Amino acid sequence: MRVLITGGSGFVGQALCPLLKEQGHRPMVVSRSPEPARAVLPSGTDIRRSALDFVDTPPDAIVNLAGESIAGKRWSEAQKERLVNSRVETTHELVRLCEQLSHTGHAPDVMVSASAMGYYGDQGDQEVDEDTTPHDEFAHRLCQRWEEAAQGVTEFGARLAILRIGLVLDKDGGTLKKMLPAFRLGLGGRLGHGEQFMPWVHRHDLVRMIVFLLDGDQHTGAFNGSAPHPVTNAEFTHQLAQHLKRPALMPVPSRVLEVMLGEMSRLLLTGADMLPRRLEQAGFEFTYPTLDKALDDILGSS
Ligand SMILES: NC(=O)c1ccc[n+]([C@@H]2O[C@H](COP(=O)([O-])OP(=O)(O)OC[C@H]3O[C@@H](n4cnc5c(N)ncnc54)[C@H](OP(=O)(O)O)[C@@H]3O)[C@@H](O)[C@H]2O)c1
Repeated sequence: MRVLITGGSGFVGQALCPLLKEQGHRPMVVSRSPEPARAVLPSGTDIRRSALDFVDTPPDAIVNLAGESIAGKRWSEAQKERLVNSRVETTHELVRLCEQLSHTGHAPDVMVSASAMGYYGDQGDQEVDEDTTPHDEFAHRLCQRWEEAAQGVTEFGARLAILRIGLVLDKDGGTLKKMLPAFRLGLGGRLGHGEQFMPWVHRHDLVRMIVFLLDGDQHTGAFNGSAPHPVTNAEFTHQLAQHLKRPALMPVPSRVLEVMLGEMSRLLLTGADMLPRRLEQAGFEFTYPTLDKALDDILGSS
């Protein structure tokens, strides 16, 4: 099957494309910078600048991952607009592709579209499943607009599965790459009171989830994309330090993060005890259900 992936050059896409290829599918990637993307993707991947450039090579399926990094820059009003527009505009382009392909009877069968745990906003310590009422804040509004834009593909017959992704963990990228230098030096510590939940997922399980949702004809609507055993920030800090055999006794006070990061500090200081209820009901099996198992794999015995 031909699978078109927006943002396929990123941390998730770099694991998804080889898995799809291994399974006999043909990944095709939308990237603003095809040459650098080529260097990190399997050889022979068809890379073009816009989803609409693929109108002559209709995909059977779409995976929508593109978006400006949420933690890349302080959330000024202009940056918030970039975060929203980078996702909504890419998604609208996919809807236009589906519309164009529908005229020739070649619209894709399915789209798996990324969203994030931020959909729920700050939920304190209550358990969160796909039916939980979100807390209204910027992260929620961002994800809501992204998810609404994705709904457009259903008008052209595509099945839509939305994946509300937790913190993605693996070597060489994502949040862990940013945390490791301090923790390796023994300078890690909990953030604020540390009781905020950090739903997480091993990148290997995340890309397996995407393939699972692409494959199963019955999977529609929103799915929480995180492991079944989320942990608080304090527990995450403790387990990471244990795996690295380092102390983690340097807590960062909330006030410091608030001053340094402004509103973006909510990414670190708030969270949701998000559970992958619908994926488990659908029969998805995690290779890395616990953080201990995931860190064992990622960090080995370092
Ligand atoms: N990683 C996580 O922990 C996590 C957690 C929750 C949700 N998510 C979401 O899952 C998706 C994939 O995550 P990821 O970690 O693979 O992200 P990533 O490494 O930041 O990659 C996203 C890709 O999106 C494209 N992109 C970046 N800025 C863009 C812009 N302004 N306009 C259009 N495209 C842009 C880039 O591709 P080109 O430069 O090649 O165009 C980039 O490679 C993201 O949308 C992210 O928000 C990730």
